[in-house]
Amino acid sequence: MNRTCLAVVLAAGDSTRMKSSMSKVLHPVGGRPMIAHVMASIAASGVSDVALVLGRDAEKVEKAASIEGLAVEGVLQTERLGTGHAVLMAKEAIARGYDEILVAYGDVPLITAAPLKAAREALAGGADVAVIGFHTDNPTGYGRLLVEDGELIAIREEKDATDAERAVTWCNSGLMAIDGKKALDLLSRIGNQNAKGEYYLTDLVEIARSLGGKAVAVDAPESELTGCNNRAELAVIERLWQERRRHELMVSGVTMIAPETVFLSHDTVIGQDALIEPNVVFGPGVTVEGGAVIHAFSHLEGAHVAAGANVGPFARLRPGANLAEGAKVGNFCEVKKAEIGRGAKVNHLTYIGDAVVGAETNIGAGTITCNYDGVNKHETHIGAGAFIGSNSSLVAPVKIGDGALIASGSVITEDVPADALAFGRARQEMKPGRAAVIRERNLAIKAGK
Ligand code: UD1
Ligand code: MG
Repeated sequence: MNRTCLAVVLAAGDSTRMKSSMSKVLHPVGGRPMIAHVMASIAASGVSDVALVLGRDAEKVEKAASIEGLAVEGVLQTERLGTGHAVLMAKEAIARGYDEILVAYGDVPLITAAPLKAAREALAGGADVAVIGFHTDNPTGYGRLLVEDGELIAIREEKDATDAERAVTWCNSGLMAIDGKKALDLLSRIGNQNAKGEYYLTDLVEIARSLGGKAVAVDAPESELTGCNNRAELAVIERLWQERRRHELMVSGVTMIAPETVFLSHDTVIGQDALIEPNVVFGPGVTVEGGAVIHAFSHLEGAHVAAGANVGPFARLRPGANLAEGAKVGNFCEVKKAEIGRGAKVNHLTYIGDAVVGAETNIGAGTITCNYDGVNKHETHIGAGAFIGSNSSLVAPVKIGDGALIASGSVITEDVPADALAFGRARQEMKPGRAAVIRERNLAIKAGK
């Protein structure tokens, strides 16, 4: 499409029903502010210029909306006089003369590029206004799309509708495309003589037709057009987003045994043939390569899991955890800011933080890297092919060489050279027969009571 387009995104609402200390468009979906989802879909539809209509939390909203590939200019709407009034806040930008104006809402975050493109194509096909509509069993509160002979003749707001019009189940999503050369003229003709006393953007349909123009509606799935007014709707949007993203990953070759229990972030990357068991949570910044297995009840954030690596069950990978090919982090282990080398094993009840673990090294159960002295963090470097005996504490900063062996239960405070055996524990003493003596004495005391 060579036609130029300006997107006008409405995000000036007060978010009263959210009962929140911040604008609703800043609330995250898949770990990313709602407004950023809208912006990403606008960018994906081939539009790069955006006028963002701001009200509450203007600075924060503009920052959250400024994603790569978009030129976003914020315009302030100081009074909420309706959607038609809101779009006109972008008057200066519109006056620059785009072929098309695309209106989107900051609180309708599940929209994809496809309906936006379809609305723009309808303009290219000769319409002055192309509204994105959806069919629903529950139309209450939405403007209804009134159609005659295949043409959209009006959008009737619920409060202004007759009973017959309220029975219509084809609804206005609020999103629409407007002929850019006519937009300012059409918008300036909107009045506020209606039940709410607001400037309704939806009046554009009748205004365009009264001037001899044409309006059409394009259909889109209801699941993309769910709006967010309160926390219950936010939870519905989160569910729909999770379902969509899981589906995308599964059709791209990721196995999920119980997908409804897997929670993804907007930037979660999972490769083909990876297996994700039930009840796994992906915080932001996780990459899992093909063929890796994430066992049940694991929590990952800011981590990278290479091909064929194994995580969990019940493992926690925190930011900076980087597992090389075939590495294994097992149950009740926590890894933070640490490289786990190729084929290395961290299998049970262990904390590895601020560390490097060499290839094929085995970390025994209950090993702790003591990385924090109460003020500063320190690093532990463990070479390749080393063996750390169970229940050892490695007090950082400390280095353990390739092939070194640490005796179980050691507290290691000094560097251990390659291939050395280090003991950091009290030597075992043996008292033959002494247990029996103590037992007899204790039994005698009990009998004498
Ligand atoms: C609007 C549509 C309705 C549609 C519904 C879909 C109109 C007149 N009605 O109704 O047909 O079915 O959306 O959800 O357009 N906003 C501003 N400034 C304003 C007014 C609104 O930025 O002055 C923003 C709001 O924050 C919101 C969006 O525009 O993101 C829609 O406004 P809202 O008041 O929710 O419109 P509805 O009454 O829901
Ligand atoms: Mg609304």
